Amino acid sequence: MSIFREFFRKMSSSSQPSLAPVGVRGMKVLDREKFLRNIQVPVLYLKEENLSIIFKQCRPYILKIENFKPIMDLQANSSFNKCIYLHPEKVTQWKDIDEESRNVLQQFGVTEKNLTSEEVQLGYENWSYDTIFKAVLPEDEEVISGYSQIGHIIHLNLREHLLEYRQVIGQVLLDKIKTCRTVVNKSNIIDNTYRNFSMEVIAGKEDYLVSVKENRCKFEFDFSKVYWNPRLGKEHERILGFLKPGDVLFDVFCGVGPFSIPAAKRKCTVYANDLNPDSFKWLKHNAEINKVDKRLFQPYNLDGKDFICYVFKDHLTKLCKRNTQFSGKIHVTMNLPAMAVKFLKNFKGLLKDEELTDKFNYDIVVYVYCFAIGDDSVAEARQMVNENMKFDLSSFITDIFDVRNVSPKKEMMRVTFNLTKQILFDGHKSCAPVEPPAKKTRTTPQTTMTAL
Ligand SMILES: C[S@@+](CC[C@H](N)C(=O)[O-])C[C@H]1O[C@@H](n2cnc3c(N)ncnc32)[C@H](O)[C@@H]1O
Repeated sequence: MSIFREFFRKMSSSSQPSLAPVGVRGMKVLDREKFLRNIQVPVLYLKEENLSIIFKQCRPYILKIENFKPIMDLQANSSFNKCIYLHPEKVTQWKDIDEESRNVLQQFGVTEKNLTSEEVQLGYENWSYDTIFKAVLPEDEEVISGYSQIGHIIHLNLREHLLEYRQVIGQVLLDKIKTCRTVVNKSNIIDNTYRNFSMEVIAGKEDYLVSVKENRCKFEFDFSKVYWNPRLGKEHERILGFLKPGDVLFDVFCGVGPFSIPAAKRKCTVYANDLNPDSFKWLKHNAEINKVDKRLFQPYNLDGKDFICYVFKDHLTKLCKRNTQFSGKIHVTMNLPAMAVKFLKNFKGLLKDEELTDKFNYDIVVYVYCFAIGDDSVAEARQMVNENMKFDLSSFITDIFDVRNVSPKKEMMRVTFNLTKQILFDGHKSCAPVEPPAKKTRTTPQTTMTAL
């Protein structure tokens, strides 16, 4: 999977390379013929027996563009039988080649006389998508120079001023990126419950079923219905690095399983939960295609609050009551950065009514994610966690980590803290005394109790 960080830059006519298509600025319907261009290119003649040494010396100057061979055969009657095409922006005269290389070339009979030029016709197939976008899209404006790829889908987030060019942008990406079959443009920001977003197909087939690989597992899902962010692969890997065989993972907002499935494959016992019925469906599918041991994996389709107040609580209660010797760690991942901190209060006093204080002796680590928008992201993340827990967690926090920069003033942060006896048996309880979700909710939720 290719992932490029999306960044924007200003273009100006002065920075436009001379080796670029001309006369295509403002094109809104792709016309590939218009990209034909004749260019004078420097050429170096040589004998085949010296090719490898001369090619090595000329490497920095070679004309490297798509679908173009920089080494060609010459007519048999010439005293030279090979030629190398050089880049016209790098070499216009013999002295443009550095002195050391020129000396080596001369030792092999290649002098200024061997440097000539030739008219070469370049076309659509020779330009990279980046060069095409620079030539077509408005000058002196921000242009897109990156994209995310999820399986066969290329996913863009085009600025308003580029929307009228979306068909050209989509078609060029489809032509140039061999593994791409569909190009979509995000048409809203992620603000719905399930963190997926509506999208418009701007080129290729309307096919949202993707297959991706992450952390040695395969994930299949409908990208239009669930959350998946290829930029989180590294963070998933970091968390997996904290898990040991025999540990337990409670994944409160699991999506289609990027924490849960690899964790179960590493022999952790996993309780994976997501409120989105589509995530739940693909989560189970992914458990199957990755041949996850069913005894180690329990999927749930509950609100995060219910998952904490019943499934998590039930597990701890049973551990204590049965006096189970358990020396591993219990991990709780909460990746719903816009809201996860609001679920923290459900841990407070969770075991208060149980007569288990003496029996509780377990290591529980919570990884909760949030967004920070201020100048001091670490302080902001700490404050959010403390305020929402209504408990000063400072001495239990073991790490506050900047996961990624989401936008110029927005960081995704992870706060790691130990969920201690003091918190779980605190006198103040937050889980409302409601009926536990019916058994069936392990596969289909009966009710979605208001979360907070
Ligand atoms: C940001 S995604 C994270 C998915 C996955 N853990 C990952 O790292 O890619 C958050 C997930 O939380 C789910 N979600 C949103 N609100 C929820 C709630 N109240 N209870 C449980 N899951 C919820 C969404 O459906 C979504 O799949």
